[in-house]
Amino acid sequence: MIARHLARLSIGVLAAMLVVSFAGRSGVSAQQPAPPPGGQPPQGGQPPRGPPGGPGGRGGFQLRNVQVLKDVPPDQWQLVMQYVAASLGVQCNYCHVMGDNASDDKETKQTARKMMQMVADLNKQFFAGKPAVSCASCHNGHAKPSRTAPLAVNMTQDEAAAAAAARGRRGGGPGGAPGGAPGGAPGGAPGGAPAAAAPGGAPGAAGAPGGGPGRGPAGPPPAPPVTETVDQVLSKYVQALGGQQALQNAKTRVMTGTITNRDLTTANVTVTEKNTGEARIEIATQPNPTIRATNGTAAWQIGGGGGGGFGGGANARDIAGFQVQQGFRLADFALPLNVKQRYQNLTVKSAYETIEGKQAVVLTGSPYPNVTEELAFDRESGLLVRRTVTSGSPGGFGILALGEQIDYSDYRDVSGVKEPFTVKHSTWNAVTTEKFTDVKINAPVADTVFAKPAPQQ
Ligand code: HEC
Ligand code: HEC
Repeated sequence: MIARHLARLSIGVLAAMLVVSFAGRSGVSAQQPAPPPGGQPPQGGQPPRGPPGGPGGRGGFQLRNVQVLKDVPPDQWQLVMQYVAASLGVQCNYCHVMGDNASDDKETKQTARKMMQMVADLNKQFFAGKPAVSCASCHNGHAKPSRTAPLAVNMTQDEAAAAAAARGRRGGGPGGAPGGAPGGAPGGAPGGAPAAAAPGGAPGAAGAPGGGPGRGPAGPPPAPPVTETVDQVLSKYVQALGGQQALQNAKTRVMTGTITNRDLTTANVTVTEKNTGEARIEIATQPNPTIRATNGTAAWQIGGGGGGGFGGGANARDIAGFQVQQGFRLADFALPLNVKQRYQNLTVKSAYETIEGKQAVVLTGSPYPNVTEELAFDRESGLLVRRTVTSGSPGGFGILALGEQIDYSDYRDVSGVKEPFTVKHSTWNAVTTEKFTDVKINAPVADTVFAKPAPQQ
């Protein structure tokens, strides 16, 4: 558990997801993300940051000693390293000499390089070149993977009941005396039933433990087959939100509330969207706000770290690629009516999942060529409860597999449309929870809020 916490690179940024802005922007100066705007020092117990300052510092991006990951594009480099660190539950300096990432002085780095080659070979040889295996497959948050299978755990009440039922189906279970000798009095009383010998034998005989320890063979009964189609799931979703017409009539959405980081620091947040794709997320970080916006085509950002100082300066900078993908995942106002346009290869997963104790039907699809997403809908209410996002690398070397999860809850009715008032976004190094206190549908929104501001003098 602790290792898992350590795994998360400490960023302490309210706009935690903005951490990715480092990937494309500052080159990779071998640094962990800079302190947040108005940021807290990292909390006790969490190693603060990686080695300060790499060769050349910010801006100059020169790889000097790359032998395996040759085809990782420069703007992905930071992400790949974040992925590696998170997979092992370590910080950069577990492998790197402080201030000199090109150095091979640490044995762990040499081992890691061999591992990178191993992963490439495994995928090539055994998985038809698909990125099936990566660091997390074995390491799962630990520097040293475990060889032992996980220990058995107690069944839940439901599992225990299912196990008991399965024992019953198998005919009395182990320990059921075959002949039922002691129980059924053969002689019987006059007029007694001839077949008094109960099949299972004496009561109590079935008490012997069956089914093996823990999660033995007598698990829950086989899952029911999924009956819904993609279209059924989507139309139920639209219906649950208030219907096609109500959604079409909702042209803008303005949500205000708070956003809380995993270190429990909180700031105010305002999310402004139009149903035509424009979006702006503004977080009231100090001293400067953190803003990210798109007019539907270009995207820009202010703050969010980087730039060598708190707040990353007050000037807007363009963002692209993964930063845009991740930066606007939560700007999903237009999603309900556009699922089919937004996701390629939509299919229904073959089994139901259980989320927060409730059955969910799950669609999978691909919003970008190297990203897959699962959209989980509460089977009863029809509402979207979770999105699970996996981003791979567009480069040929597929070790990158960054996971994100978005949980939607507390749906409430706003002007005839249901809106989630709580949205939690978890990534490999950040968790943010938005709690909205006010959501307005069709409040007037000027297009200027999405336009990139001119640089300040
Ligand atoms: C588990 C070990 C490991 C961790 C943790 C790790 N790296 Fe690396 N890093 C490597 C290896 C191995 C290479 C060389 C890869 C190759 O040769 O293809 C490398 C290369 C680099 C390089 C290129 C250096 C050069 O000029 O050749 C940079 C920059 C870098 N890492 C930054 C980071 C940052 C930043 C972090 C923390 C987010 C980090 N690394 C975490 C193993 C690691
Ligand atoms: C097929 C399973 C597997 C995969 C995939 C894998 N590793 Fe490992 N890794 C191991 C095993 C096993 C060890 C040895 C642990 C030990 O010594 O007890 C190890 C050890 C390491 C160590 C040395 C840890 C230490 O403290 O001595 C590093 C660093 C490492 N792996 C990095 C990586 C990286 C980076 C990746 C992804 C590119 C990766 N591994 C993928 C199985 C794997």
